[in-house]
Amino acid sequence: MKYKILAAVVFVIIAIQFIPYGKNHSAPLVVSEPEWDSPRTKDLFTRACADCHSNETKWPWYSSIAPVSWLVQYDVEEGREHFNVSMWGVQKDNEGDEAKEKFEEGEMPPWFYVILHPEAKLSESETKEFSKGLLATFGEEDEEDENEDD
Ligand code: HEC
Repeated sequence: MKYKILAAVVFVIIAIQFIPYGKNHSAPLVVSEPEWDSPRTKDLFTRACADCHSNETKWPWYSSIAPVSWLVQYDVEEGREHFNVSMWGVQKDNEGDEAKEKFEEGEMPPWFYVILHPEAKLSESETKEFSKGLLATFGEEDEEDENEDD
């Protein structure tokens, strides 16, 4: 009985590898970048954000293995769609002005990303530095704008 269950699990894991979704490890060209306030901000962005918010995604080995591959592809596609520093000024919907807030709230980078990418965990001083850099590079969403329709 135990072995039948094991065999079934192995079968399912192998079978899902044939699903095409998750295999699109695209690396589109870098079209245009924002004017980084300093190379340091760009470095920190590369460490903590660029895999999902640029066209320069590094695809780790496990991003080829379902079901992880599905989650990774989804995150990269969604992430680029909202905010992509490789399509700066080109892509219409580019929410850089929310970057500082999402980062400070701890919403970005997502916690599961940080577990798998220890380099994305910034020290206290790097966190302060990066907040300032994000603000200087992308500005901040205007609270008044947000409430205009109230
Ligand atoms: C593992 C992939 C991943 C990483 C790494 C990541 N993000 Fe995101 N980010 C997403 C996804 C997916 C979305 C869109 C859906 C959502 O809001 O959760 C998003 C959305 C955003 C948005 C748009 C506003 C919003 O919430 O929709 C901003 C701004 C943002 N991220 C900033 C950052 C910053 C700054 C970093 C680095 C400190 C970062 N992200 C790291 C996946 C990621």
